[in-house]
Amino acid sequence: MTDLTQTVREIALEQPHSIRVFERFGIDYCCGGRKPLAEACAEKQVSVDEVAAALEAEASSTSPLPVDWSQATLGELITHIESTHHVYVKTELPRLAVLAQKVVNRHGDTQAHLPAMQKLLAQLDEELIHHLGKEEHVLFPYIAKLEAALISGGAQPEACFGDITHPIAMMTSEHDAAGALLAEFRRLSDDYTTPVGACPTYHAYYDGLKEFEQDLHQHIHLENNILFPRAIAMEAVSLDVSA
Ligand SMILES: [Fe+2]
Ligand SMILES: [Fe+2]
Repeated sequence: MTDLTQTVREIALEQPHSIRVFERFGIDYCCGGRKPLAEACAEKQVSVDEVAAALEAEASSTSPLPVDWSQATLGELITHIESTHHVYVKTELPRLAVLAQKVVNRHGDTQAHLPAMQKLLAQLDEELIHHLGKEEHVLFPYIAKLEAALISGGAQPEACFGDITHPIAMMTSEHDAAGALLAEFRRLSDDYTTPVGACPTYHAYYDGLKEFEQDLHQHIHLENNILFPRAIAMEAVSLDVSA
């Protein structure tokens, strides 16, 4: 039985299969996941009983369980994040930009939200690519070195940013900003509702944005809820050991 007083984030961590249910009901389990399930359902105007039943059904489903990344090493988790989610962001954003330009050329004069969405997409691209660079070149290598030092009993690695909570606070606030931009896409597009008779490119654009949103939620969940808290705890242990 699901405990309705648990936060959405706690449920997502304890039951990785629950993410499929949260995605289906549009319940935020990453940036805004620190609310009790009952409160998150009320905000989304969905029945908490229906969500609880869907969670039970998913738990007993025979479909393969998602990998439980909370049991992996941080090095393995970082490799997974970079090789799946970071690669996806870098290949998908240029494809979406091409689709955005095509729908603006064709429908932008009659549908004002399309140029507005194109501008937001360019902003998301710029901010996310910069964000991934900071993770890949600064924060993630530090976390990997920290873990390796703890395993080998070596010295704590040097950091250029003070303690790890500083870059993590920055990354988390950038996740919130990306989440807010994606929420704005949903608002502008009326939850990705295509107009009657929309061309295949229009459908492909909205389908691509929906998929991008889903992938980004999974990506941010892995970082905010698993990687970052474990890295903070690891640095604290490492400081204790070297004290
Ligand atoms: Fe990332
Ligand atoms: Fe990130």
